[in-house]
Amino acid sequence: MYLDASDERVLAGEFGETPQKMMEILVALGDVYEAERLIPITSAQVSGASYKTIGEWGLAWLQSLDARVAVPTVLNPIGMPREGWREFGIDEEFARNQALVVDAYRSLGIKLECTCTPYYLNITGYGEHLAWSESSAVAYANSVLGARTNREGGPSALAAAIVGKTPYYGLHVVANRRPQIVVEVEGWEGLRADHWGAIGHVAGGKVGNRIPIFSGIRPNRDQLKALGAAMAATGAVALFHVEGITPEARVFSFEVDDLERVAVTRDEVLGLFEEVEVEAVAVGCPHCSGAELAELADLLRGKTTTKPFYVFVSRGVAEKHRDLVAVIERSGARIVPDTCMVVSPRMDEFSSIMVDSGKAFAYVPGMCGAVARIGTREECVEVATG
Ligand code: F3S
Repeated sequence: MYLDASDERVLAGEFGETPQKMMEILVALGDVYEAERLIPITSAQVSGASYKTIGEWGLAWLQSLDARVAVPTVLNPIGMPREGWREFGIDEEFARNQALVVDAYRSLGIKLECTCTPYYLNITGYGEHLAWSESSAVAYANSVLGARTNREGGPSALAAAIVGKTPYYGLHVVANRRPQIVVEVEGWEGLRADHWGAIGHVAGGKVGNRIPIFSGIRPNRDQLKALGAAMAATGAVALFHVEGITPEARVFSFEVDDLERVAVTRDEVLGLFEEVEVEAVAVGCPHCSGAELAELADLLRGKTTTKPFYVFVSRGVAEKHRDLVAVIERSGARIVPDTCMVVSPRMDEFSSIMVDSGKAFAYVPGMCGAVARIGTREECVEVATG
């Protein structure tokens, strides 16, 4: 991979050992993927933020680093809310270790917005090159915003954040963003607005790591978020297009006719909605938008929860919608910023969890050791308040 003079100086260690190591990571990655050069990025999002997922070795690695990020950088959800963790049921030892992880990231200059929905912070736009790592955020940035990012690992996103550049390969290259398979959703008019996570759950299994283009559907932004998050979990989808909706679909529309086609049927989608007794209910995977909080507030107004009911959200969105947070919490539901149902050890204590997300439905069994049930948001409220 070609390096310019300033890249070479970083690689030679002129700016310290940590930038040098980070440049080595980028060069190794670039060589593996035959990138021609590095390109500047405008923001980074770093996963590997929960002590539950990185453990003591990850923490020790982070503490060994000595540098500052070169571009605006945010974190993925950590393992607990930064305030009120004790009430959320986190033990002292985990909280101590998680705080050390947060301190290590803070000393690198990373903004402590711990969220998988960094796009609500308005930090990116069409055509910008990024190094984001959380799979649903990657799918949203590429597909809904038309930004360009590969699905980075935690270390490579951090390396890009510190160097301010990433290897130019994969989804940074326009020619690699072409649709590869057409997905037709049969009978979607009969499905409800919040079935999109389940549609993505089915579609991801069919398309694998190919770039799908959906035809004949009209999801809004929150539905696109749910669709992409689930396809990233059950497949390895980092970019998808929807005809007439997503920004790059038009660019490639003339190439669609000869592609393989698969169908996602109404029966396949509704088949996921099995009724199972659950101990707790969790929504907000990916973290809720303001519109989703408004919908939850409407559903919960005047009701009282009878089961633990957690709503995961970024701190920024929760603070912007304090009125909705108050309505939701009046019901007994708990708004939980900074963390999520999969990366927090709190959720491991339940043996069965109901979710409204195709991604969480895929991850809860493996990551929390719990039986997962998927329902619409309305069904989640019914079960939590029944
Ligand atoms: Fe976000 Fe956690 Fe889901 S990181 S996408 S809420 S699994």
